[in-house]
Amino acid sequence: MIVHDKSKNIFTLHTNATTYQMKVDDYGVLLHTYYGGRIADADLSYLIRSADRGFSPNPGEAGHCRTYSLDTLPQEYSTCGAGDFRLPSLELEASDGSHMADLRYTGYEIRTGKYALEGLPAFHGEGGETLVIFLKDAAARVEVELYYGVFAAYDLITRAARIVNQGEETVGLCRAASLCLDLPRGDLDFVTFDGRHVMERCPTRAALRPGVQSVGSVRGTSSHQHNPFVMLCDPSAGEDQGLCYGAMLLYSGNFEAAAERGQFEDTRLVMGINPYHFHFRLAPEESFTTPEAAMVCSLNGFGQMSRLLHRAIRERLLRDNRPGRKPVLVNSWEATYFDFDAEKLLRLARAAAPLGIELFVLDDGWFGTRSDDKGGLGDWWVNREKLPGGLGGLADQINGLGMQFGLWIEPEMVSEDSRLYHEHPDWALSVPGRSYTRGRSQLVLDFSRKEVRDHIYDALREVLSQANITYLKWDMNRSLTDVWSAALPAERQGEAYHRYVLGVYELLERFHRDYPHILIEGCSGGGGRFDGGMLYYTPQIWCSDNTDAVDRLRIQYGTSFCYPPCTMGAHVSAVPNETNRRVTPLETRGVVAMSGVFGYEMDLSRATKEERKVIAGQVERYKACWDLVAEGDYYRLSDPFADSPYTAWAHVSPDKRRALVSLVTGSTRAALPFFALRLKGLDPALRYRVNGGESYPGDALMQAGYPLPVLQGDYQSLQLYLEAE
Ligand code: GLA
Repeated sequence: MIVHDKSKNIFTLHTNATTYQMKVDDYGVLLHTYYGGRIADADLSYLIRSADRGFSPNPGEAGHCRTYSLDTLPQEYSTCGAGDFRLPSLELEASDGSHMADLRYTGYEIRTGKYALEGLPAFHGEGGETLVIFLKDAAARVEVELYYGVFAAYDLITRAARIVNQGEETVGLCRAASLCLDLPRGDLDFVTFDGRHVMERCPTRAALRPGVQSVGSVRGTSSHQHNPFVMLCDPSAGEDQGLCYGAMLLYSGNFEAAAERGQFEDTRLVMGINPYHFHFRLAPEESFTTPEAAMVCSLNGFGQMSRLLHRAIRERLLRDNRPGRKPVLVNSWEATYFDFDAEKLLRLARAAAPLGIELFVLDDGWFGTRSDDKGGLGDWWVNREKLPGGLGGLADQINGLGMQFGLWIEPEMVSEDSRLYHEHPDWALSVPGRSYTRGRSQLVLDFSRKEVRDHIYDALREVLSQANITYLKWDMNRSLTDVWSAALPAERQGEAYHRYVLGVYELLERFHRDYPHILIEGCSGGGGRFDGGMLYYTPQIWCSDNTDAVDRLRIQYGTSFCYPPCTMGAHVSAVPNETNRRVTPLETRGVVAMSGVFGYEMDLSRATKEERKVIAGQVERYKACWDLVAEGDYYRLSDPFADSPYTAWAHVSPDKRRALVSLVTGSTRAALPFFALRLKGLDPALRYRVNGGESYPGDALMQAGYPLPVLQGDYQSLQLYLEAE
């Protein structure tokens, strides 16, 4: 609900459990007064106090009043050069060379429904309302429209800003954040999700210290190193208690999430496009729209925050128009790598079909002259030496086995050893007069250019016309370097990074529109571009190239703080594991992969009879309870980063009548014969039958726990299926 108190010029956004408030002050500055647990309509600006603070300057129109300063007031969209020395949200370069921004309120609109952002991913659909607040920098003649989307049911507030040049001179945008959140306290913890290739999104929590702490990416993608999702929380907050704020940026390029603990024990969080090499020129009448950011505030810890985000992402971000269960897949990558021919692939498919596997995904190596990762990218036609019957022939045979057929592509890339590169060397990002940088031996196509995207689209259209393809894995295997676009003049090169991302979105949108029956999985060396922006186009993302079940416990745990299990591609692979050589039981690998979008990535034609039996059982089990994983509420029952003898989690149906509880033990520990696992999220008043055997009251299972059987040996696992009587 959006409320505007006209007499006091207060804007209040209410969700079911939270309230967010802003107020226009006497000078037209938009102040942030409150974000937290729901409060009935009240003017919360009594929290804002003013005093004469040395070295905090006072705007001209305040006369000689020394108690009014932008430097001490909580700002809704912070400015720079006019007295606020904290993190700016907006930095304008005027035609006279000045760097400033000074925004004053000019009006507002309340609109029914949730706003959309042209060319950018955004939460959508019913149940949303929109508030637009208009601000203006009168001297620069630049208008800023602040967009707020309110989804009461998910306690979700979305934000974006549109900056319009209303003057007669071109202005430069050096920084345009998506979100600015000022909180009147400095005693908060900042939690970020960090890592590297094959170990993504590990939570890092630290108390804010004075000054700016930030994470971000200048890799052109959101990156393996830091995720565009962060949290601020009470120092005492935990999984089930305490105040916490989650903030996600729906963007797949360079980003920055910076938290500043200010001199007066205040905190400012600013999130948006990374200012590195960002300089967007706005000619008269041109506008710039920031990516969307979304915030959730939970009064009951991280678990509730995640469940709210999961529901919102599932129901209002993903645009998956294939209802029901996603097919259980087998992917050829870890089974064959580049070494395959049609017969080998069919052997794998023939082994998979009788196990209940429904989709065969042909990974890298099917096109051009690609026989290793040094060549072929960009030549999107089938390699007839490997596949003499073409993709159509192979797909037909796979379909004949009762399986769907899917294909790997890496549209944004080009190998120097390719026909595409020979014909269009200037289509690859590179700076004239400099040697360029390879990543995985490949170059990046300049996706800011429409003719490049059109060419790739046409080539892939041709591929898709040749075979019955229902799934694409859209990969992206290097970071951007040498970012310079031959299509942009020198003064617009600061737009290249962002225009690249817009280009990726535009092409993905074309596929979404023209091939609604094709499920696209996102991927970037595993989880290097796992963000809310990509999820709008690719409703699932390959979580990590690390398929080791034990490392995956951590990766999937960290990922789950923002992203729901139905978005995480998770496969059972062979042991010793490719990444870390660890050996884990097949049963455990299945339990871990089953808490995401389930599949296999191993040579099933070499599986023993016993292994085939286990796999068929896993597939059957997943099919019986997939809805809990895909649509249920997710409960983290333990922290795999803590020194705990087990990692456990649960998926509970929204009506709380069914649950799937999973547990994996650690290594080299004596079995814990008397251990009881305390569950969460059940209905205390219901009785639950566990794995078709004994039944227990819900309150007892949550308060006292479920007695675990003795699990002996390293990395053992257990799954409990609970059904209310
Ligand atoms: C990336 C992906 C893998 C696989 C390879 C193929 O690393 O993350 O899953 O598709 O590329 O080259």
